Amino acid sequence: MGHGCGKVILLGEHAVVHGVPAIAAGIDRGADAEVDRATDTELSIGEVRVIPGDGSELGRALSALLAELGAGSVSVRATTCLPVGCGLGSSAALAVAIARAVQALDGDASSERTLAAATAWERVFHGNPSGIDTAAAAQGGCIWFTKASGPEPLRLGLPFTLAVAVAGPAASTRSMVESVARIAERRPEVFQKSLAGIEALVKNARIALEAGDLTGLGRLMDLNQMLLSGLMVSTEEIEFACRLARSAGALGAKLTGAGGGGCVIALVESDPEPVLAAWRAQGLTCFSTHVGAKKE
Ligand code: PMV
Repeated sequence: MGHGCGKVILLGEHAVVHGVPAIAAGIDRGADAEVDRATDTELSIGEVRVIPGDGSELGRALSALLAELGAGSVSVRATTCLPVGCGLGSSAALAVAIARAVQALDGDASSERTLAAATAWERVFHGNPSGIDTAAAAQGGCIWFTKASGPEPLRLGLPFTLAVAVAGPAASTRSMVESVARIAERRPEVFQKSLAGIEALVKNARIALEAGDLTGLGRLMDLNQMLLSGLMVSTEEIEFACRLARSAGALGAKLTGAGGGGCVIALVESDPEPVLAAWRAQGLTCFSTHVGAKKE
Protein backbone atom coordinates (compact mmCIF):
# COMPACT_ATOMS: atom_id res chain seq x y z
CA MET A 1 0.00 0.00 0.00
CA GLY A 2 1.31 3.46 -0.81
CA HIS A 3 -0.07 6.98 -0.39
CA GLY A 4 0.73 10.30 -2.05
CA CYS A 5 -0.92 13.55 -1.05
CA GLY A 6 -2.40 16.20 -3.31
CA LYS A 7 -0.93 19.66 -3.23
CA VAL A 8 -1.69 23.29 -3.75
CA ILE A 9 0.86 25.86 -4.79
CA LEU A 10 0.37 28.80 -2.45
CA LEU A 11 2.59 31.12 -4.47
CA GLY A 12 5.18 30.90 -7.25
CA GLU A 13 3.80 28.49 -9.89
CA HIS A 14 5.27 28.97 -13.36
CA ALA A 15 7.99 31.26 -11.97
CA VAL A 16 9.37 28.14 -10.22
CA VAL A 17 10.06 26.60 -13.65
CA HIS A 18 12.35 29.60 -14.32
CA GLY A 19 14.30 29.28 -11.06
CA VAL A 20 12.22 31.37 -8.64
CA PRO A 21 11.24 29.79 -5.27
CA ALA A 22 7.67 28.64 -4.75
CA ILE A 23 5.66 27.58 -1.71
CA ALA A 24 3.45 24.49 -1.83
CA ALA A 25 1.38 22.63 0.72
CA GLY A 26 0.30 19.02 0.85
CA ILE A 27 -3.46 18.61 1.30
CA ASP A 28 -5.33 15.82 3.05
CA ARG A 29 -6.88 14.51 -0.18
CA GLY A 30 -4.57 12.30 -2.22
CA ALA A 31 -4.05 8.98 -3.97
CA ASP A 32 -3.56 5.41 -2.76
CA ALA A 33 -2.13 2.38 -4.52
CA GLU A 34 -1.98 -1.36 -3.92
CA VAL A 35 0.54 -3.46 -5.80
CA ASP A 36 1.06 -7.21 -6.28
CA ARG A 37 3.68 -9.04 -8.24
CA ALA A 38 2.08 -10.36 -11.47
CA THR A 39 2.91 -12.11 -14.72
CA ASP A 40 2.00 -9.02 -16.80
CA THR A 41 2.12 -5.40 -15.72
CA GLU A 42 -1.17 -3.51 -15.58
CA LEU A 43 -2.55 -0.44 -13.85
CA SER A 44 -6.16 0.28 -13.01
CA ILE A 45 -7.38 3.60 -11.68
CA GLY A 46 -11.08 3.18 -11.08
CA GLU A 47 -12.57 2.24 -14.47
CA VAL A 48 -9.41 3.14 -16.39
CA ARG A 49 -7.08 0.24 -17.20
CA VAL A 50 -3.72 0.62 -18.92
CA ILE A 51 -0.76 -1.56 -19.78
CA PRO A 52 2.74 -0.47 -20.79
CA GLY A 53 3.02 -0.21 -24.56
CA ASP A 54 -0.70 0.50 -25.15
CA GLY A 55 0.22 3.91 -26.57
CA SER A 56 -1.37 5.86 -23.71
CA GLU A 57 0.52 8.51 -21.71
CA LEU A 58 -0.46 6.67 -18.52
CA GLY A 59 1.00 3.43 -19.89
CA ARG A 60 4.25 5.23 -20.78
CA ALA A 61 4.36 6.92 -17.36
CA LEU A 62 3.92 3.57 -15.62
CA SER A 63 6.75 2.04 -17.69
CA ALA A 64 9.03 4.97 -16.86
CA LEU A 65 8.26 4.70 -13.14
CA LEU A 66 8.82 0.93 -13.01
CA ALA A 67 12.03 1.20 -15.08
CA GLU A 68 13.38 3.83 -12.68
CA LEU A 69 12.74 1.46 -9.77
CA GLY A 70 14.10 -1.55 -11.68
CA ALA A 71 10.84 -3.33 -10.79
CA GLY A 72 9.54 -6.53 -12.39
CA SER A 73 5.93 -7.08 -13.58
CA VAL A 74 3.27 -5.81 -11.19
CA SER A 75 -0.46 -5.36 -11.00
CA VAL A 76 -1.35 -1.90 -9.63
CA ARG A 77 -4.74 -0.77 -8.34
CA ALA A 78 -4.85 2.94 -7.62
CA THR A 79 -7.54 5.33 -6.44
CA THR A 80 -7.62 9.08 -6.09
CA CYS A 81 -10.18 11.52 -4.79
CA LEU A 82 -8.43 14.50 -6.40
CA PRO A 83 -9.98 16.08 -9.48
CA VAL A 84 -7.64 15.17 -12.35
CA GLY A 85 -5.51 17.82 -14.05
CA CYS A 86 -6.89 20.72 -12.03
CA GLY A 87 -3.68 21.91 -10.39
CA LEU A 88 -4.01 19.74 -7.30
CA GLY A 89 -1.18 17.43 -8.30
CA SER A 90 -3.32 14.33 -8.94
CA SER A 91 -0.73 12.84 -11.27
CA ALA A 92 2.17 13.37 -8.85
CA ALA A 93 0.06 11.98 -5.97
CA LEU A 94 -0.65 8.84 -8.03
CA ALA A 95 3.01 8.51 -8.98
CA VAL A 96 4.18 8.76 -5.37
CA ALA A 97 1.48 6.31 -4.18
CA ILE A 98 2.39 3.77 -6.87
CA ALA A 99 6.15 4.15 -6.37
CA ARG A 100 5.80 3.66 -2.61
CA ALA A 101 3.60 0.58 -3.07
CA VAL A 102 6.08 -0.94 -5.57
CA GLN A 103 9.01 -0.17 -3.28
CA ALA A 104 7.15 -1.71 -0.31
CA LEU A 105 7.22 -5.10 -2.10
CA ASP A 106 10.97 -5.13 -1.43
CA GLY A 107 10.84 -3.39 1.94
CA ASP A 108 12.39 -0.30 0.31
CA ALA A 109 11.36 2.99 1.94
CA SER A 110 13.94 5.24 0.25
CA SER A 111 12.36 8.63 -0.35
CA GLU A 112 15.06 9.50 -2.93
CA ARG A 113 13.99 6.49 -5.00
CA THR A 114 10.31 7.44 -4.61
CA LEU A 115 11.06 10.94 -5.91
CA ALA A 116 13.19 9.67 -8.80
CA ALA A 117 10.45 7.23 -9.87
CA ALA A 118 7.69 9.84 -9.54
CA THR A 119 9.79 12.34 -11.51
CA ALA A 120 10.23 9.80 -14.34
CA TRP A 121 6.40 9.43 -14.42
CA GLU A 122 5.81 13.19 -14.34
CA ARG A 123 8.21 13.82 -17.26
CA VAL A 124 5.87 11.85 -19.52
CA PHE A 125 3.02 14.28 -18.79
CA HIS A 126 4.83 17.57 -18.19
CA GLY A 127 7.98 17.46 -20.31
CA ASN A 128 10.15 19.51 -17.98
CA PRO A 129 8.51 19.65 -14.53
CA SER A 130 10.11 21.78 -11.83
CA GLY A 131 9.63 18.87 -9.40
CA ILE A 132 7.43 20.84 -6.98
CA ASP A 133 4.42 18.53 -7.49
CA THR A 134 6.31 15.33 -6.69
CA ALA A 135 8.13 16.94 -3.74
CA ALA A 136 4.84 18.11 -2.21
CA ALA A 137 3.12 14.77 -2.91
CA ALA A 138 5.93 12.87 -1.21
CA GLN A 139 6.58 15.20 1.68
CA GLY A 140 3.23 16.73 2.67
CA GLY A 141 3.20 19.76 5.00
CA CYS A 142 4.24 23.14 3.72
CA ILE A 143 7.39 23.35 1.61
CA TRP A 144 9.70 25.98 0.17
CA PHE A 145 10.88 24.73 -3.19
CA THR A 146 13.47 25.75 -5.74
CA LYS A 147 14.40 23.81 -8.86
CA ALA A 148 18.07 24.01 -7.86
CA SER A 149 17.80 22.95 -4.20
CA GLY A 150 14.55 20.99 -4.03
CA PRO A 151 12.15 21.07 -1.06
CA GLU A 152 12.72 22.53 2.40
CA PRO A 153 10.02 22.09 5.07
CA LEU A 154 8.54 25.36 6.35
CA ARG A 155 7.57 25.90 9.99
CA LEU A 156 4.16 27.57 10.11
CA GLY A 157 3.40 30.24 12.69
CA LEU A 158 -0.27 29.19 12.48
CA PRO A 159 -2.15 26.35 10.79
CA PHE A 160 -4.55 27.69 8.17
CA THR A 161 -7.57 26.72 6.11
CA LEU A 162 -7.99 26.96 2.37
CA ALA A 163 -11.18 26.75 0.35
CA VAL A 164 -10.57 25.08 -3.02
CA ALA A 165 -12.86 25.29 -6.07
CA VAL A 166 -12.67 23.79 -9.52
CA ALA A 167 -13.09 27.01 -11.50
CA GLY A 168 -13.17 25.48 -14.95
CA PRO A 169 -12.10 22.62 -17.17
CA ALA A 170 -8.49 21.61 -16.73
CA ALA A 171 -5.78 22.77 -19.12
CA SER A 172 -2.64 20.80 -19.89
CA THR A 173 0.25 21.79 -17.62
CA ARG A 174 2.67 21.20 -20.49
CA SER A 175 0.87 23.64 -22.81
CA MET A 176 0.52 26.30 -20.09
CA VAL A 177 4.24 26.01 -19.24
CA GLU A 178 5.03 26.30 -22.96
CA SER A 179 2.84 29.38 -23.36
CA VAL A 180 4.70 31.10 -20.48
CA ALA A 181 8.01 30.10 -22.11
CA ARG A 182 6.84 31.83 -25.31
CA ILE A 183 6.17 35.05 -23.38
CA ALA A 184 9.66 34.73 -21.84
CA GLU A 185 11.12 34.45 -25.33
CA ARG A 186 9.12 37.22 -27.00
CA ARG A 187 9.18 39.78 -24.20
CA PRO A 188 12.21 38.96 -22.03
CA GLU A 189 12.32 42.30 -20.22
CA VAL A 190 8.67 42.27 -19.18
CA PHE A 191 8.98 38.61 -18.23
CA GLN A 192 12.03 39.23 -16.03
CA LYS A 193 10.10 41.99 -14.22
CA SER A 194 7.21 39.58 -13.56
CA LEU A 195 9.63 36.97 -12.26
CA ALA A 196 11.29 39.49 -9.93
CA GLY A 197 7.84 40.58 -8.70
CA ILE A 198 6.76 37.00 -8.02
CA GLU A 199 10.04 36.25 -6.26
CA ALA A 200 9.52 39.20 -3.90
CA LEU A 201 5.96 38.03 -3.16
CA VAL A 202 7.09 34.44 -2.46
CA LYS A 203 9.86 35.60 -0.12
CA ASN A 204 7.42 37.84 1.78
CA ALA A 205 4.91 34.99 1.93
CA ARG A 206 7.49 32.82 3.65
CA ILE A 207 7.92 35.50 6.31
CA ALA A 208 4.12 35.82 6.67
CA LEU A 209 3.66 32.04 6.96
CA GLU A 210 6.38 31.70 9.57
CA ALA A 211 4.93 34.61 11.54
CA GLY A 212 1.34 33.31 11.26
CA ASP A 213 0.32 36.54 9.47
CA LEU A 214 -2.63 35.24 7.45
CA THR A 215 -3.86 38.70 6.43
CA GLY A 216 -0.46 39.45 4.91
CA LEU A 217 -0.36 36.06 3.22
CA GLY A 218 -3.78 36.65 1.68
CA ARG A 219 -2.69 40.00 0.22
CA LEU A 220 0.40 38.40 -1.26
CA MET A 221 -1.74 35.69 -2.86
CA ASP A 222 -3.94 38.37 -4.47
CA LEU A 223 -0.86 40.13 -5.86
CA ASN A 224 0.53 36.82 -7.17
CA GLN A 225 -2.77 36.28 -8.96
CA MET A 226 -2.37 39.68 -10.67
CA LEU A 227 1.09 38.77 -11.93
CA LEU A 228 -0.15 35.34 -13.09
CA SER A 229 -2.89 37.10 -15.08
CA GLY A 230 -0.11 39.15 -16.68
CA LEU A 231 1.48 35.88 -17.79
CA MET A 232 -1.84 35.01 -19.48
CA VAL A 233 -2.48 31.88 -17.41
CA SER A 234 -5.66 33.12 -15.73
CA THR A 235 -9.17 32.84 -17.22
CA GLU A 236 -12.52 34.62 -16.79
CA GLU A 237 -13.72 31.67 -14.69
CA ILE A 238 -10.67 31.85 -12.41
CA GLU A 239 -11.06 35.62 -11.96
CA PHE A 240 -14.77 35.16 -11.22
CA ALA A 241 -14.12 32.45 -8.60
CA CYS A 242 -11.44 34.65 -6.97
CA ARG A 243 -13.81 37.65 -6.85
CA LEU A 244 -16.58 35.54 -5.31
CA ALA A 245 -14.20 34.27 -2.63
CA ARG A 246 -12.93 37.74 -1.75
CA SER A 247 -16.50 39.11 -1.56
CA ALA A 248 -17.37 36.24 0.79
CA GLY A 249 -14.57 37.28 3.14
CA ALA A 250 -11.51 35.36 1.89
CA LEU A 251 -8.20 36.96 2.88
CA GLY A 252 -6.84 36.25 -0.61
CA ALA A 253 -7.52 34.09 -3.64
CA LYS A 254 -5.63 32.88 -6.69
CA LEU A 255 -5.30 30.09 -9.19
CA THR A 256 -3.14 27.16 -8.15
CA GLY A 257 -0.96 25.10 -10.47
CA ALA A 258 -0.72 25.66 -14.19
CA GLY A 259 -3.91 27.73 -14.66
CA GLY A 260 -5.77 28.07 -17.95
CA GLY A 261 -8.65 26.48 -16.02
CA GLY A 262 -8.50 24.15 -13.05
CA CYS A 263 -8.55 25.12 -9.37
CA VAL A 264 -8.65 28.29 -7.36
CA ILE A 265 -7.56 28.50 -3.71
CA ALA A 266 -8.88 31.01 -1.20
CA LEU A 267 -7.28 31.62 2.18
CA VAL A 268 -9.86 32.07 4.95
CA GLU A 269 -9.44 33.45 8.43
CA SER A 270 -11.10 30.43 10.08
CA ASP A 271 -14.47 29.24 8.71
CA PRO A 272 -14.40 28.28 5.01
CA GLU A 273 -18.21 27.91 4.81
CA PRO A 274 -19.11 31.44 3.54
CA VAL A 275 -16.66 31.08 0.64
CA LEU A 276 -17.79 27.51 -0.11
CA ALA A 277 -21.45 28.63 -0.01
CA ALA A 278 -20.73 31.49 -2.45
CA TRP A 279 -19.04 29.08 -4.84
CA ARG A 280 -21.71 26.39 -4.49
CA ALA A 281 -24.39 29.00 -5.26
CA GLN A 282 -22.68 29.42 -8.65
CA GLY A 283 -22.53 25.68 -9.22
CA LEU A 284 -18.79 25.28 -8.54
CA THR A 285 -17.44 22.03 -7.07
CA CYS A 286 -15.47 22.91 -3.95
CA PHE A 287 -14.07 21.70 -0.63
CA SER A 288 -11.88 22.94 2.20
CA THR A 289 -8.57 21.67 3.47
CA HIS A 290 -6.37 22.41 6.47
CA VAL A 291 -2.65 23.02 6.24
CA GLY A 292 -0.64 22.40 9.39
CA ALA A 293 -2.52 21.02 12.39
CA LYS A 294 -6.11 19.92 11.77
CA LYS A 295 -8.72 22.18 13.29
CA GLU A 296 -11.43 19.58 14.02
O1 PMV B 1 0.86 20.32 -12.36
P1 PMV B 1 0.21 21.63 -11.94
O2 PMV B 1 -0.92 22.05 -12.78
O3 PMV B 1 -0.04 21.68 -10.48
O4 PMV B 1 1.33 22.77 -12.20
C1 PMV B 1 2.62 22.65 -11.72
C2 PMV B 1 3.22 23.98 -11.47
C3 PMV B 1 3.94 24.63 -12.63
O5 PMV B 1 4.79 25.60 -12.01
C4 PMV B 1 2.96 25.35 -13.55
C5 PMV B 1 4.77 23.64 -13.45
C6 PMV B 1 5.98 23.07 -12.70
O6 PMV B 1 6.51 22.05 -13.19
O7 PMV B 1 6.39 23.62 -11.68
